[in-house]
Amino acid sequence: MNTIRQPDTTHSIAPFIAKRWSPRSFTDQAIAPETMEQLLEAASWSASSMNEQPWHYLYAFRGSQAFERMTEVLMDGNKPWAKDAAVLMIALAKRHFDRNGKENRHYMHDVGAANTTLLLQAVDVGILGHMMGGFHMDEALKAFAIDDSKWEIACFIALGYPGDPDALEEPYAEREKTPRSRKALTEFSQQLND
Ligand SMILES: Cc1cc2nc3c(=O)[nH]c(=O)nc-3n(C[C@H](O)[C@H](O)[C@H](O)COP(=O)(O)O)c2cc1C
Repeated sequence: MNTIRQPDTTHSIAPFIAKRWSPRSFTDQAIAPETMEQLLEAASWSASSMNEQPWHYLYAFRGSQAFERMTEVLMDGNKPWAKDAAVLMIALAKRHFDRNGKENRHYMHDVGAANTTLLLQAVDVGILGHMMGGFHMDEALKAFAIDDSKWEIACFIALGYPGDPDALEEPYAEREKTPRSRKALTEFSQQLND
């Protein structure tokens, strides 16, 4: 385990939350198809507005053509390390409710929640994930024939078993060895007293 990336928390938090972080170094161990299904099932148990479940995941194992196509649409800062992930995913968010065709104001919120649930389940089986907003939207939509009027790409996700930071080129190796930090609770929360 990369202990430098384990947070030094003021309050005790659940171990599976503390252990989640976004690595760039992965071992060459493949993720079993059943394990992917386990992660997807976990995601499916997320809460969503009207239980719409507006998420849809495209995923590909390293070595497949689809995996190659996913790496090709990533931005340059993500390509050098994401190409070594065991699995790449595209998290899609459905813009409208199935039940009535109306706009779903919560679609991105709910896909974010599903992504996080998937990544927390991954921690439980020793896998870490790295979400990426750094991809070329137009190229990604085209490469995977995604209908932009119905779906928005929320992010890409690289998954794998965490590897040796020193296997990465710079500046990535150094980043992997830098402690993580967060805002103080008072910067993002306030108790209302009236
Ligand atoms: C929607 C989203 C997009 C992100 N895009 C990228 C990205 O393109 N490249 C990258 O290296 N990290 C990306 N990250 C990872 C964040 O930088 C990372 O989550 C943040 O620094 C906190 O670190 P932690 O996940 O290790 O706690 C993204 C995270 C999210 C949630």
